[in-house]
This record gives sequence, C-alpha cells and structure tokens, in this order.
Amino acid sequence: MKISVPKETKERENRVALTPAVVKQLVTAGYECMVESCAGLNSYFEDAEYAAAGATVVDHAKVYADADVVLKVNAPSAAEIAQMKKDAVLISFMWAASNKELVNACVSAGISAFSMDAVPRISRAQKMDALSSQANLGGYKAVLMAANAIGKILPMMTTAAGTIRPSKVVIFGAGVAGLQAIATAKRLGAVVEVSDIRPETKEQVESLGGKFIEVKGDESIRMEGGYVKGVSEEFLKKQQELVSKHVKEADIVITTALIPGKKAPVLVTEEMVKSMRFGSVIVDMAVEQGGNVVGSEFNKTVVKNGVTIIGEGNIPSLLPMNASDLYAKNIQTLLQHLSDKDRFKWEMEEDITKGSLIVHQGVAVHPSVQ
Ligand code: NAI
Repeated sequence: MKISVPKETKERENRVALTPAVVKQLVTAGYECMVESCAGLNSYFEDAEYAAAGATVVDHAKVYADADVVLKVNAPSAAEIAQMKKDAVLISFMWAASNKELVNACVSAGISAFSMDAVPRISRAQKMDALSSQANLGGYKAVLMAANAIGKILPMMTTAAGTIRPSKVVIFGAGVAGLQAIATAKRLGAVVEVSDIRPETKEQVESLGGKFIEVKGDESIRMEGGYVKGVSEEFLKKQQELVSKHVKEADIVITTALIPGKKAPVLVTEEMVKSMRFGSVIVDMAVEQGGNVVGSEFNKTVVKNGVTIIGEGNIPSLLPMNASDLYAKNIQTLLQHLSDKDRFKWEMEEDITKGSLIVHQGVAVHPSVQ
C-alpha cells in the first residue's frame, strides 16, 4: 500500500505524522511511502532524510490523490479529503463527535477514517495512545513556559544575601498532562499542590511529591471508564471555594482539567485571578476546549490584573522533535495493527478497530457520529 504524509497546514502546527526513522521501518515492512516536500521541516527533518529512509518526496498535488493511506496529525480539510481516492484510508486526530463537517467530507469522498483520539485506552493500545504521548510532553512544557514567564525562580536558594523561598505551583487535573507537570515542577524545586476530583489521583500526586488538595466529591460527579463525564455547577462552586485559598497564594497555576467530549469545567474564576499576586502566571492547558480559567484567550498570552494568563492551544507542537517522534510511533503501531503491507484487515469486532474507526468505506459507523 502507498502511505502518504502531507505537510500539516494548521496554524502553529510544527509536528509531522511520520519521522524518517519510522518511514524506514515501514518501508522495510513492505509499505510504500510518499512524503510531501517540506512536511518535516518544522520538526527539523529534511526531505533528504526521508528520501534516504526510502520515501518518495512528492508535491502537494500527489500527496492526497495517489495515496492508499493518508497519515496526518490534524485532520485534512474537506477539499483535501475530496482529492483522496475512493476507498483510501485516513488516520489522524479527528475529534469526530464535534466535527460533523469532517465526518461528512469523509462520507462524501467514500473513504475510511480512523481517529487517533478515539483509540481505546486499554493496555494493549498504550503504544498507539497519542493523547497520552502528546499530553505528557504538554505537561512538561507548560511548566517551563510558566517558569519562563514569571519574574522569579522555582527552587529554594540560599545565598549570602538571603534565602529565596521556593515558588508555589498549583496544578488542576492530575491526568497525563497534570502528572507530568507535577513531576517537572518538583524537579525544578517548586512546592506543588494539586486538585483532581478522581480520588485515585491522590496517591499518584503524593508519589510524585505533590500535596493533594482534598475536595470531597458528591453524587453529581459522573464517571465512565476512568474519566470524569460530568459534574454539577454546585459541585464546581464548592470546589472553587475550597481551592481559592491555594490559588491566591500560588505563584504559578497550571490547569489541565478536561471532560472528554464536553466544554472544560471552569475552575479559576475572575475573582480568583484577581486575588492572585501581581506578577503571578497561569497556563490554561484546557483553553482549546473552552478553558478552565475565566479570561484565558485561545493562542494568546494576556495580562489581567497583573496576572499573565498563557492560552497556547497547541503546546505539544512547541516540542516538535519529541512530539513528532512519539506521534509517529503511535500512528505506525496503529497502522501495523490494522493492516499489513498489502491491505487493511477490517476486523470489525476487534476493540481497537471498533473504537477508532469513524467512517468505513463512506459510511459513518462510530457510535459518536451516528
Ligand atoms: P483528561 O485530559 O480527560 O483530564 C485531565 C484530568 O482532569 C483528569 O485527571 C480529570 O479527572 C481531571 N478533572 C476533570 N474535571 C475536574 C475538576 N472539576 N477538577 C479537577 N480535575 C478535574 O484525562 P487524561 O489525562 O487524558 O486521562 C485521565 C484518565 O485516563 C485516567 O483515568 C487515566 O488513568 C486514564 N488513562 C488510561 C490509559 C490506559 O489505560 N492506556 C492511558 C492514559 C490515561
């Protein structure tokens, strides 16, 4: 099969779906690879490296039209999908439940589409879990961005002129991004406090040296498959009251709280931002899903009441070398699970196929889009 890797066109996107190292492995396994010219440049991979790995470097006109399988980070546009061959296969992030237009474009083109964000989070699929590989890097970088934006250091430092107290970092959400943010802030010497509403996170937070802020859950918290599926407004209010003291005393706040398929919960209100010290910094990692912080702006850094609020929407893309490397391994593992060099297996009852297949040969099949 002919696999192709287009250049990403989304604004602020530096990642690429395959690295030269992964191209080499796929070519060795018998797949044919095409890579659009300059596709890897923002991740610091040159066309010559792809060519040396066995790929054909092609122009934009060919990258969709000639492919049996298109591999991307972000979903292509409807116009690009329309150029694909009938019965070709797309694999990328799709966020299908909230992206009807994209699903319709796949249906109209008669293609099949697998979504990286829908790969089930089961042990067997861990190597294909791009949500985790990218969130992990994002959590690390968010701490560095905050550390860079604040006018102080994070660790305690004893000097002849006096002792500097460590910075206090408050982290909301102890999922994949949050746990990496805790580990990174601790390594930089900060005092770290953490809030999450899944009780099992307490032990994980403490094992990384963070202090868990206890917020007693109530019956409004709905869980499904290890995820928070929803909480009531009353609960969020109670939570805001309990954490406000911690936010007020924080130098840095990093928010990562998400509810899959829904708008992110508001955890830091305008009042809480106002209560923070002049010069403090917030990174709202949930900004693309509506934000955890009142006042954060998508892809912008704003200063409100002397508090810097960073709303970068694509933090993993700021570490494109590692992010592309891990994403390429995720997508390669999924591709080789779903296919061999000649064809897709279409094992429709198999968990990973069933979980991630959104459109099958022009028919929307995933429960989230039916
Ligand atoms: P996520 O990105 O959807 O959410 C981040 C965090 O926000 C979660 O820990 C969630 O509990 C928290 N949150 C939601 N509402 C909140 C609120 N009001 N206040 C404070 N925190 C709030 O989650 P992520 O990082 O994608 O994954 C978390 C879940 O997925 C966990 O259960 C984790 O163990 C599981 N997981 C399983 C994997 C596997 O088995 N292969 C791989 C990765 C994650």
